[in-house]
Amino acid sequence: MAEITAKPPLFTGLSTRLIAMIVIVILALEVVIFLPSLANARANWLNNRLDIAAVALRVIDAVPANMTIPAKLADSLLTTAGANAIALRSPARSQLIERSDEPMPHAAITADVRRRDPFYLITGGLDTLINGSDRMLRIVGPANPDGTAAATASRDDTQLIEVIMSEAPLRAELITYARNIFLLSLTIAILTAAVLFFFINRDLIRPIKRMTDSILAFRKEPENASLIIVPSDRKDEIGMTERELAAMQSDLFAMLRQRRHLADLGLAVAKINHDLRNTLTSAQLLSDQVANLDDPNVQRLAPRLVHTLDRAIGFAQSVLSYGRESGVPPKPQPVDLRALLEEVQFEAGLRAHPGIRVDNQVPDEILLRLDPDQMARVFTNLAKNAREALEPLAEKRDDLTVCFSYTEDQDWLIISVMDNGPGLPPRARENLFVAFEGSARAEGTGLGLTIARELTEAHGGELVFVDQEKGTRFDVRLPASLLI
Ligand SMILES: Nc1ncnc2c1ncn2[C@@H]1O[C@H](COP(=O)(O)OP(=O)(O)OP(=O)(O)O)[C@@H](O)[C@H]1O
Ligand SMILES: [Mg+2]
Repeated sequence: MAEITAKPPLFTGLSTRLIAMIVIVILALEVVIFLPSLANARANWLNNRLDIAAVALRVIDAVPANMTIPAKLADSLLTTAGANAIALRSPARSQLIERSDEPMPHAAITADVRRRDPFYLITGGLDTLINGSDRMLRIVGPANPDGTAAATASRDDTQLIEVIMSEAPLRAELITYARNIFLLSLTIAILTAAVLFFFINRDLIRPIKRMTDSILAFRKEPENASLIIVPSDRKDEIGMTERELAAMQSDLFAMLRQRRHLADLGLAVAKINHDLRNTLTSAQLLSDQVANLDDPNVQRLAPRLVHTLDRAIGFAQSVLSYGRESGVPPKPQPVDLRALLEEVQFEAGLRAHPGIRVDNQVPDEILLRLDPDQMARVFTNLAKNAREALEPLAEKRDDLTVCFSYTEDQDWLIISVMDNGPGLPPRARENLFVAFEGSARAEGTGLGLTIARELTEAHGGELVFVDQEKGTRFDVRLPASLLI
């Protein structure tokens, strides 16, 4: 039995991964919402500055045209607006107020509030956040005759206001805004994750964990019926899975118990059979002696007695070896296939047979990595079956042949054993490869084909009956990887 899998570790367990996934998804969603709202906050801030600048300009407007604007007034207006310079440009006139104490900066980044395309707004917001610590900003927008922020739509488009100012205050504002949004998002993400987790944990993870625990425990002790899961009465997939698991565990429990009983019975049969064989062997010795008596009646009956005892001993012997040998794994070694099949002919009683010709078409020097004893048993069983099927026809026909052939395809090495006999009788066909059931011969145990198939499968191959019009053909298919 394979080693029991350990419990899932804390950080790769379902619940930890689930929480992390929920938080990540929500944060990702928040980023998608965050960018437009950052752009929006920046646009509002810029509009605000323009509105304040517009008010300052109205104050300047109030100064009579023939008077120069006092530097003090200009400076205090600019300080209130937080700007270095404010300009009003229109086809008719152009006005500029600037600080008297600071030189007019040259390089400035432009923010045009008339442009409202999302890409411009979003990249502008990010640009301010990343690069805006010590740049000058030039805000351009339509003049607002009312001087109110809400009246943006009614601004006169032919008049433009420009505000020159440091970008730092805008950046500071945006950083605060971004931090607040981030903290809010994190709180929402964690709260959502906690609520979702509570329900998912209650409805999914805990039942799954219960099933996992039950599977682990039951696998350790599959013959302990108290470890079979008690299904809940849920109607959903989890409930279905629990019920199926419970059914599977019950079936397995029953099967294991039955298997143990059968194994016990098998052991008992083997013991009885063993004693029976010994008793029969003693009887055989006696019958051999009886056969030597001169009495004509004894002489007539003795051969039949000997034959019957032989059969009984043979049967007991094959049942014993079936029980004993089924579990031995093959010990592969390089084997010359043609030579192996020559040996098999001898074992199967086909060597120099008076009525049956053998045609070994397997080419020379095909080396395979096999267990020679087990594979010899496979082919001997097949060849013996062929001989037993052909022998009764020996007097009527003189073309009886058993043929061994070898072909390869991409995946398989196919070794066929064919004869031109009567073909498989219906009883054998119906119970093909079923131990003790498949025999259609009076003296057969019905084990030959079953054993041959088991041994072939132990080599990674398969034994198949190939139905054809005349005769019988069995293919031993071995994996191509066995070819050396
Ligand atoms: N080449 C064949 N031609 C005709 N019938 C066959 C052939 N090979 C097998 N059979 C039939 O299939 C039956 C099952 O074969 P299997 O080798 O499993 O058992 P068995 O030969 O009866 O007994 P055992 O081999 O255990 O002594 C045989 O009884 C026989 O009727
Ligand atoms: Mg047989």
